[in-house]
Amino acid sequence: MSKCPPDAILSCDGLSKSFGAIQALSDVSFWALPGEVTALIGDNGAGKSTLVRCLVGVYEPTTGTLSMAGKANPYSTPDEARNAGIETVHQNLALIDELTVAQNLYLNREIVWRLGPFRFLNHRAMRHGAEAMLSRLSINVPSVHQRVRRLSGGQRQAISICRAVGAGAKIVIMDEPTAALGVQETANVEGLIRKLKEEKVSVILVSHNFDQVLRLADQVWVMRAGKVAGTVRAAETTGEHLVALVTGAA
Ligand SMILES: Nc1ncnc2c1ncn2[C@@H]1O[C@H](COP(=O)(O)OP(=O)(O)OP(=O)(O)O)[C@@H](O)[C@H]1O
Ligand SMILES: [Mg+2]
Repeated sequence: MSKCPPDAILSCDGLSKSFGAIQALSDVSFWALPGEVTALIGDNGAGKSTLVRCLVGVYEPTTGTLSMAGKANPYSTPDEARNAGIETVHQNLALIDELTVAQNLYLNREIVWRLGPFRFLNHRAMRHGAEAMLSRLSINVPSVHQRVRRLSGGQRQAISICRAVGAGAKIVIMDEPTAALGVQETANVEGLIRKLKEEKVSVILVSHNFDQVLRLADQVWVMRAGKVAGTVRAAETTGEHLVALVTGAA
């Protein structure tokens, strides 16, 4: 297995995680380079989501070290990970249906103005900020006043990604962001991932779609039964080779 490069933005070494008798991860060493799209593939139950949850402070690993930009164990909770610049976009995303696009984009980091002891929501600043964020990523929604409930799956996914980037994330981790999307919506989210890369945001992408991985990723990590089965540069591999690594035929 190749050694962790010194400029890795996020890495782990010797990571294991068990849930009672279930060993979900054993001795996983993984790294992602800054500004790259790093894909994580593997069969159902291979340990991808567990690894992602360890990387973002949701699970405390049973053993192993995590490093961000050379700093060991930089955080231990999801909030601390977020403050360190890591945002996660889940498949079943945490948007609030009854709020508008702008309100969702500013959820938990509302802009307020103060008058003596009072604080008021600065709707105008949030509306302008929301419009700027959406246009930066070329995201099409009818209006920032639209309730999220009325958006399509792809638009919702785009809003979650936009929120992650708007929060200043240096690393965005996406666990199967297009699993529930149609062809056009998948293409839009893939376009958004390319845009993040242009903006020097590092992306870690969990995907079952090998064509998508070959289209988007720079580095591909293959997991099998809780272990790393291999890692390859996307430009130097093929769909057949990835299938062989995933199934254990390689
Ligand atoms: N909270 C948990 N408690 C007990 N076992 C768990 C828990 N989370 C995951 N596991 C187990 O750990 C293993 C890895 O699961 P994980 O969800 O990480 O796989 P995955 O690669 O993300 O699979 P999928 O492609 O289906 O999403 C599985 O055997 C799973 O049953
Ligand atoms: Mg999973």
